[in-house]
Amino acid sequence: MKALVTLGDGDIALQDAAVPVISPDEILVNVVVATQNPTDCTYRKTALLHNKPGNILGCDFAGTVVEIGLRVPAGLRTVGERVAGMIHGGVTPNGSFAEYLAVHGALVISIPDDVSFVHAAQLGAACLTSCQALYQSLHLPTPLHPVPADSGETVLIWSGTSATGAYAVQLAKLAGLRVISTASEGNIEFVKALGADAVFDYTDSRAPKLIVEATGNQLRAAMDCISDGMTTVQTVMSMGAEGGTVATLLPYTSRRRDVPVETVFVLAYSIFGKASGAPDSIIDIEFPFKFPANSGHLENAITYCEMLSTILARKALRPIPVRMYPHGLASVRVGFEDMKAGKVHAEKITYVIADTPGVGDRPADI
Ligand SMILES: NC(=O)c1ccc[n+]([C@@H]2O[C@H](COP(=O)([O-])OP(=O)(O)OC[C@H]3O[C@@H](n4cnc5c(N)ncnc54)[C@H](OP(=O)(O)O)[C@@H]3O)[C@@H](O)[C@H]2O)c1
Repeated sequence: MKALVTLGDGDIALQDAAVPVISPDEILVNVVVATQNPTDCTYRKTALLHNKPGNILGCDFAGTVVEIGLRVPAGLRTVGERVAGMIHGGVTPNGSFAEYLAVHGALVISIPDDVSFVHAAQLGAACLTSCQALYQSLHLPTPLHPVPADSGETVLIWSGTSATGAYAVQLAKLAGLRVISTASEGNIEFVKALGADAVFDYTDSRAPKLIVEATGNQLRAAMDCISDGMTTVQTVMSMGAEGGTVATLLPYTSRRRDVPVETVFVLAYSIFGKASGAPDSIIDIEFPFKFPANSGHLENAITYCEMLSTILARKALRPIPVRMYPHGLASVRVGFEDMKAGKVHAEKITYVIADTPGVGDRPADI
């Protein structure tokens, strides 16, 4: 198969690679569409990710099940089923920037007939990270058990224009929450259209103060979808008089002294951790941070996949705009450069695998 492979010197290349061999708990997926996340390219040229040869990049995917492992429960998956999700790309010879990938049989979202592969390929990292933050870390209600819309229960999603934030805003709104968010001025209406009740310009230094006013100084839960340090300070400063919890996507400790604000680091990859000692156990997460194996996170993620399959079937999730590159995997270098240059705004970089030179015909329905 064609795949985007690490060369071991910090560089990458489109190469022929072996189709992954599935373990008994896994399924083999023929990838139709892959999308790009900052994690795919952020660590390029560092010793961390791309210093080993033969690993395949890419986390997010949508495709078709072609093989089912012996231990996948009967009836859970069917050959030909359309599925989407995320895997831990870049660290083994198994990534989504490839014609085939292996993934845990229960750790995928089932794609309804009327949802495109292109939309479904956006969901993996963005939605699973959001679910971990909203439910595992902040213990907020889910779309399957919403609170009444007038409950007043509120969450701040810092950066509703990031892919993660765009889906977090939607999930929070579907759960009946009052959603406060941030965006650059030109994208405020975009985030409101996703369901946010109030959106503040993050370039305005008064944003945290305006959020405190808008929430009556009572905000107790927030998710920072950028977590570059400054945004986490801003998110923490938006919390109300009683303090509360902020889920962050990079490690951060609140320095706020006037109210107790707990910061909880969410690492989406933690769903791939299994307690060591288990049969064919997966080791602790090593990249991009050392993270102890937590099989509970895998179990949670499986329930999130079931929930996402349900709400997707209800047509309740709106896609974010697509930035499609013309030559599939042969365009990934350009996609990396565009992302690193800050050219991605409220959109998802998307590759159709069949557009890659040397791969078969583009399916009629993507
Ligand atoms: N820990 C984890 O497991 C995990 C999982 C997923 C992502 N992440 C990390 O989370 C970050 C976001 O990833 P993503 O894929 O969701 O992002 P993305 O779609 O690439 O984010 C791009 C958006 O970020 C917005 N933005 C930039 N600076 C901002 C700021 N200071 N305040 C508010 N919004 C800002 C921009 O908004 P405007 O267009 O409005 O300017 C832009 O639309 C990345 O650093 C990624 O590595 C971590």
